[in-house]
Amino acid sequence: MVCVSCLALVVIAIFTFVCWRILFSDCDLILQLAEKFGKSSASLTGKVVWIIGASSGIGEFTAYELAKAGCHLVLSARRNEELDRVKSQCLVSGKVKDDDVFVLPLNMLKTDTHAAAVETVLQHFNKIDILFSNAGRHHRGMFESTSLDVDREMFELTVFGAMSLIKATLPSMKERKEGHIFVMSSVAGKQGAPAASPYTGAKHALQGYCDCLRMELIQYNIDVSVVCPGPVHSNLIQYSLTEKSSEFYGKAWTKDENMMTTPRCAELIGIMMANKLGEGWISPQPILALMYLNQYLPWPFQRVSTKIGMKALAKMRDGAAKEK
Ligand SMILES: NC(=O)c1ccc[n+]([C@@H]2O[C@H](COP(=O)([O-])OP(=O)(O)OC[C@H]3O[C@@H](n4cnc5c(N)ncnc54)[C@H](OP(=O)(O)O)[C@@H]3O)[C@@H](O)[C@H]2O)c1
Repeated sequence: MVCVSCLALVVIAIFTFVCWRILFSDCDLILQLAEKFGKSSASLTGKVVWIIGASSGIGEFTAYELAKAGCHLVLSARRNEELDRVKSQCLVSGKVKDDDVFVLPLNMLKTDTHAAAVETVLQHFNKIDILFSNAGRHHRGMFESTSLDVDREMFELTVFGAMSLIKATLPSMKERKEGHIFVMSSVAGKQGAPAASPYTGAKHALQGYCDCLRMELIQYNIDVSVVCPGPVHSNLIQYSLTEKSSEFYGKAWTKDENMMTTPRCAELIGIMMANKLGEGWISPQPILALMYLNQYLPWPFQRVSTKIGMKALAKMRDGAAKEK
């Protein structure tokens, strides 16, 4: 009887500890353990990491994090001058020399250029240890009034752009029997968000592709990781797609919104890379706790998220009405 009571107490204590860690942290439990007991990004010294979407936001700060670790970096995105700026900052704040940081402009939508881009990287560094497919754009608009062209544009960038570059990179990794495909998803890759259906749909598709790829690549010693951040301060909203094709949302996030900083997000991404974690959730509260609710108790999550979603929509409508 005493033993049963002791066991019950131990179970309650563990459960309380786990709930506390879920409610008062900015990343999932495995990532918390990796941060405390696992490898830091410093263990990645000398690795060749190709970051797509390195010209701003999370990609930019991941470049700084990895430059501090002494990684060899390839910085890609469309804006050459921004990539040069990021490279200069890597040289100032990181443990890298001019030759260790290679700027390679790349448009993820131009899939016919991807094979040549991979060749260029291999000529420069001989290998690609980690491909960080991070480029992306958000979307602001209602499902019904969003043009199908916008839905397509989102999938072309988020899904087909990423798949094309991963396919082009894999042969060299398979030949070496070593590599790491690291893909940027989002909380929206795990659960729905109002007024962002193409973004949410595309990130869900990316998750599905990566879950299959992870199983197919085990035999070649190639890891696949997917990172799912919640709101992080960056330029993402400003360059969001809207309901109409070829239009920018244009407004930036304000500093007082409940968001993670880009350096903290980059730090956790570095830990995920170093420990080769298959999936990582990174988010301020209460979004992180809601992700757990969605994963393990979907029915109550749907009730809570519908209410939160309706409130978010009402806030957006109020904001739009005030601007008129
Ligand atoms: N910020 C968040 O709250 C958040 C949360 C979850 C997930 N994410 C994901 O994180 C990733 C990075 O976003 P961010 O927040 O850092 O926003 P950001 O500051 O706007 O960065 C987006 C990056 O993607 C690049 N990019 C966009 N279109 C591209 C294209 N066609 N070809 C090549 N590069 C392209 C941009 O570079 P150029 O314009 O120079 O091409 C830029 O470097 C995205 O995939 C986003 O979905 C962000």
